[in-house]
Amino acid sequence: MPRISRRDLLGSGLALSTSSLMARTAWARTAALFSPVSRTAGPQAAGQDSAQGAATSAWVAIAPREQLLFDFGWKFMFGHGTDPARDLGFGKSQDDFAKTGDFKFAKVGYDDSKWRALNLPHDWAVELPFVRDEALQSHGYKPLGRRYPETSVGWYRKEFEIPASDAGRRVNLEFDGAFRDVLLFVNGCFVGRNDNGYAPFRFDITDFLAVGPKNCIVARVDASFGDGWFYEGAGIYRHVWLTKVYGLHLKRWESFVRAEFDGDNATLVLETIMVNEGKDADTAGVSWDVFDSAGNRVAQAKAVGQTIVAGGAATFRATAKIANPALWSVETPNLYSTIVCANQGWNALDAERITFGVRTAKFDADRGFFLNGQPLKIQGTCNHQDHAGVGAAVPDRLQAFRIGVLQQMGCNAVRTSHNMPTPELVAACDRMGMMMMCETRQMSSNPEGMAQLETMIKRYRNSPSIILWSIGNEEWHLQNDMSEEGAKIAATMVRRCHELDPTRVVSAAVNGDNSKGVSDALDIIGFNYNLKFPDDFHKKHPAKAVFGSETASTITQRGVYQTDPLRNTLGAYDYPENHTDWSELAEEWWTFYGTREWLAGGFAWTGFDYRGEPTPYGWPSINSNFGIVDMCGFPKDNFFYYKAWWTKQPVLHLFPHWNWEGREGDEIPVWVHSNLDEVELLLNGKTLGRQRVPRLGHVEWKVRYEPGTITAHGWKDGKLALTEERTTTGPAVALRLSADRTEIDADGEDLGVLTVSAVDSQGRAVPTADVLVDFKVTGEAALIGVGNGDPNCQESDKEPRRSLFNGLAQAIVQATKTAGTIEIVAEVNVRHVSMEPAKIAITTKQVKPRPSA
Ligand code: GAL
Repeated sequence: MPRISRRDLLGSGLALSTSSLMARTAWARTAALFSPVSRTAGPQAAGQDSAQGAATSAWVAIAPREQLLFDFGWKFMFGHGTDPARDLGFGKSQDDFAKTGDFKFAKVGYDDSKWRALNLPHDWAVELPFVRDEALQSHGYKPLGRRYPETSVGWYRKEFEIPASDAGRRVNLEFDGAFRDVLLFVNGCFVGRNDNGYAPFRFDITDFLAVGPKNCIVARVDASFGDGWFYEGAGIYRHVWLTKVYGLHLKRWESFVRAEFDGDNATLVLETIMVNEGKDADTAGVSWDVFDSAGNRVAQAKAVGQTIVAGGAATFRATAKIANPALWSVETPNLYSTIVCANQGWNALDAERITFGVRTAKFDADRGFFLNGQPLKIQGTCNHQDHAGVGAAVPDRLQAFRIGVLQQMGCNAVRTSHNMPTPELVAACDRMGMMMMCETRQMSSNPEGMAQLETMIKRYRNSPSIILWSIGNEEWHLQNDMSEEGAKIAATMVRRCHELDPTRVVSAAVNGDNSKGVSDALDIIGFNYNLKFPDDFHKKHPAKAVFGSETASTITQRGVYQTDPLRNTLGAYDYPENHTDWSELAEEWWTFYGTREWLAGGFAWTGFDYRGEPTPYGWPSINSNFGIVDMCGFPKDNFFYYKAWWTKQPVLHLFPHWNWEGREGDEIPVWVHSNLDEVELLLNGKTLGRQRVPRLGHVEWKVRYEPGTITAHGWKDGKLALTEERTTTGPAVALRLSADRTEIDADGEDLGVLTVSAVDSQGRAVPTADVLVDFKVTGEAALIGVGNGDPNCQESDKEPRRSLFNGLAQAIVQATKTAGTIEIVAEVNVRHVSMEPAKIAITTKQVKPRPSA
């Protein structure tokens, strides 16, 4: 084992891996260490948060531990769910697992030359065509399941080296999440299985590895069985890591920092567990060094050494104080970090950096939610985890992009419905000031349910963004016909949450009156929809805090202004037809939750559109209409309703567009979302009247269409504050391209998110343009996905082309590890359509990619 002194470790800037201990200047090392936690800016615009790579993780390994990204250089091929001949012979006879070491496909030298090369994260579901089969509707018509054996099983294979210097280390292969049933083989040996779909899992592969020469890992991933009623993806859709530790090391996810703030100072309760996986008993102590976001050490603590027998474990505890801590809040997401170090004398045996925050979060039955003692309504959205172009395999940068989009409309909390999130989403929320309700997948006190719950809490209990845990969603039986069992199951789960994390309350998303079953065990009460229930509940249970665990399910499409069941369209107004029979309009639910002080706020279903659940229509619709923004993150008009009432910025949003050729003389509903006092509407300069904006409402007119311009003037305190116009445009003659950032990291992971639009001869965006656009990407990047937000569009997410949908489409490019330039060209190659192409360049700057194997 290399001798790394504790002083080296701290002085080196607490580098991310052994190799980064070699970093040249103290400044560079310190910057590398602290960059992830030094962002204290308030809510960010989409694209502002550029933390990338290892910087996005809230849990970082430090030498002598190594944590290597294991995403690059995989091979992939489809297997088969029923035919062994097309499944590497797997299952041909009944003796697959008879002898250890028999799996030839998992041995070095096996010919995988015909397999496809790819990097993780990878979701093969998004690559599949759409199939009209009503049984597939809720998952977005992708051919997965036992009836689609040829596209439901995937094999992943990778050869890699374990250097001789690793002799004596424990090596673990850690999966952040895969969908769904994983069988893992190393060097011909079966190592283990996992089928939870959403929670991380790992295998200790030490005993199967050959130190020095090549090794081989194979994972068979079977997505035949699903969990949810929404798109879930297929494959290894989150990161994989190879971690290496010495015998005596910190136990995974046992380092916990509890920050108790008394108004002046924070007392840190520090705890960790050390395990001894070495051959002999050994003695070690633990130290904690606590740093603020600028890198200043603000506290230290130590726990004296203990002797741990081989195979044993010991708990270490200490306390420390931070005077006048900078609190974590939505506006100023201040983060601290602590280096937890296992020491033997002056030598560091193992270390990790934990990011945490100091803040108080309290739910009150009479006055709602309080962050740091200040009342704060939860202006939340529920979200699934897929995005346009990439499906469930969302690169880290896109997590921050998505949070940025939501923050622009004033959303201050997300619910990770209905599963444990990816670590990079939680890290982005910590860093960007987005609160979270973190939900587990399986609501059960069976071993699997409890294991998922424990993993979630241990993995994320240091994250200041998480303000409450959710043990499940809409468990009909446990709320109704099995309510007695429901109460017992929930009580067991809640008890375990409290044991593992005494700092947070526990709830569940309950669709019903919360009168029995799981609700009996919950700390605070969540209502899904059903605005008829909370008032009565509050009267009967005045001591229970209440919030909206799931609200809205408003159904709209971006840029569409007519609801037509024959064409599967939905207008983007907030009309009664824009909700289902179980759900509510934006204005309806927020007027309810926004005007009752005792309600803590709620989570609208959903922030982003997602694949699957194409409500209220089926085929050819393939994704949901519930989003406040579409699959790409382009805002629908309701976005501005929320922005008006969820932010303090002056908002004046006028819609629809004014391109209604052929409808001259027809009455067009014209709406304005605004938080100003009054709005006046004009058509071609003639006033159509001025109206007061009702609080938490909107204003609307019926306007007979004539081409030209509609104008809205917004007045505040008697003064003209804002003006917005919609003008009839000419036909589209040119494309336009813009990027969320013009410089990105050359780390093999960072992204450019591009918007393509079309303009008329006067350079005005054409809101109805729907032309097919081809993308050409050259230079140091690859196009990894495209989208346009149209729930009825069945074009491929992976081909280098996409139609505009109501004037917009998105393309996502991913940098290589070589610095240079990326050039993206968008052009139209449709016969008889002549449009000027658009071009944009993104620079990729040299950075040190995070350590990988
Ligand atoms: C809820 C459910 C969500 C989603 C939503 C659609 O009942 O919890 O997952 O299906 O309905 O409105």
